[in-house]
Amino acid sequence: MEKLIKKTAGLIKKSNYTIAFTGAGISVESGIPPFRGEHGLWNKYNPEVLDLEYYLQNSEKCWKYIREIFYDFFADANPNLAHQVLAKMEKEGLLNSIITQNIDNLHQEAGSKAVHEFHGNSKKLKCLKCGKRYSSSEFDFKFIPPKCVNDGEILKPDFIFFGEGIPEDAYANSFAEAEKAEVCLVIGSTGEVMPASHVPRTAKQSGATIIEINPEESMFTKQLTDIHLKGKAGEILLKLGEYLFE
Ligand code: APR
Repeated sequence: MEKLIKKTAGLIKKSNYTIAFTGAGISVESGIPPFRGEHGLWNKYNPEVLDLEYYLQNSEKCWKYIREIFYDFFADANPNLAHQVLAKMEKEGLLNSIITQNIDNLHQEAGSKAVHEFHGNSKKLKCLKCGKRYSSSEFDFKFIPPKCVNDGEILKPDFIFFGEGIPEDAYANSFAEAEKAEVCLVIGSTGEVMPASHVPRTAKQSGATIIEINPEESMFTKQLTDIHLKGKAGEILLKLGEYLFE
């Protein structure tokens, strides 16, 4: 493993354009459960609460689960070592951008600037009627559902529900980044959700070397991955940082 990490550091140092594609796994060491796998949220909650059609018909009912999953768990989560190393790589000019599927805002809180949020961000809410946007910090989620001050409509979290389109700018920017990448780190994702999982595929097709960081195999491993650093994101990135920042 040590040799692979050293080799990865060499590739990153030589790379003219490096990106990171992250999934729920990078936030597990911050105390946020993943969606799939042994302790996955979808083992406990029915994903229908995040189905757009179902939500529009059952907003009050869905908000009970949305609060539990995305505001109770996430509320006191902090960036972990993995988020911090990626932020430092950006500062040192070793990472050009992050494309994240995560909505927990932890990359930004770790100091990363170039972050493309493919699935939106749970720290923002919006009114589907008048379009007014809010920060989640304006609300006390003891009282749900949050309502729009303009028209009393129930607010929707500004992250993507199943059946909802990807934000256009995040979509365009993410694939543009993937096409420029010489190295693409793929961290903590099963690769099961489209079209997000096309981002590393696009990077590969554009000639990037794919470095996967995940304790398990994923949909990427056999098809795309050139180097699989099998382990937890925090541990692997800490070791990688030792070679990168020496
Ligand atoms: N470090 C790195 N990876 C980890 C860790 C860890 N400490 N712990 C778990 N993992 C890996 C798991 O092995 C798994 O491959 O993280 C991955 C988590 O997979 P998912 O929960 O499916 O997360 P993700 O791929 O981001 O899901 C994509 O699905 O429900 C939707 O919108 C939601 O963005 C999410 C999308």
